[in-house]
Amino acid sequence: MGSRGTELNCPGPRHIAIIMDGNGRWAARRGLSPSAGHKAGVERIRDLLTACRSRGVEALTLFAFSSENWQRPPKEVELLMSLFHSYLRKEARRMRDEGVRLRVIGRRDRFSSRLQRAIEEAEEITRDCDQGDLVIAADYGGRWDIAQAARRLAEEVTRGERSLDAIDEDAVDSHIQLADLPPVDLLIRSSGEQRISNFILWQAAYSELFFTDTLWPDFDEAALDEAIEVFQQRDRRFGGRAEDDGTAVQA
Ligand code: IPE
Ligand code: IPE
Ligand code: MG
Repeated sequence: MGSRGTELNCPGPRHIAIIMDGNGRWAARRGLSPSAGHKAGVERIRDLLTACRSRGVEALTLFAFSSENWQRPPKEVELLMSLFHSYLRKEARRMRDEGVRLRVIGRRDRFSSRLQRAIEEAEEITRDCDQGDLVIAADYGGRWDIAQAARRLAEEVTRGERSLDAIDEDAVDSHIQLADLPPVDLLIRSSGEQRISNFILWQAAYSELFFTDTLWPDFDEAALDEAIEVFQQRDRRFGGRAEDDGTAVQA
């Protein structure tokens, strides 16, 4: 912050992405199993979505299950799948009533057919909503995302629909998940870890990163406000030079 005080440099984020981490540690501190932490973590989502909407955030993307999380103990994976299923069944109608469009990104073929159906139904129920977007990344990996975009471009070339010269950043971007939403302005990770863990690698190229020690089940409105406040004090330069940064005279 320095001499800037609380002066705001940029408007609020239009798109926030969150790595919801720390459920296991939250539970362990209470002598509980990781499952209890995951249950408490899911409970955070509803209020967070409401809080985001009231702060003018248009899109919220949540990392719920990474492509590497299959390595967790089978009982934990089972519990996470069942929480995901009941979340979709319970929340889709509420989201529709609030005008929020739900989308799930990631591989789907490793989910049970019951869960795949619940995903499709939830997306269908909220399909025409236009008051905001909630994206759940499940069995998602940033490397998978880039690879599937590459495969789709290769298919277009094979079918003669695209020339090799027409493979550029915009072409990749158009096949990457979230391409139709505003860019991810702010990427938050809870629990104190400071890594991306294979989340949105391509999309986060110019996201502002915010790490907090707060564990996910404790992440409340005040935590969100802190992240947004810090974001608004950042200088986003996108590789350029801010007009008033004092270097113009020497240039
Ligand atoms: C995040 O919480 C939720 C998932 C990865 C599904 P963790 O379960 O990773 O919590 P910690 O990191 O063990 O505290
Ligand atoms: C990242 O958390 C994935 C989600 C929050 C869904 P992890 O707990 O799996 O990440 P690592 O293992 O600490 O990198
Ligand atoms: Mg973790």
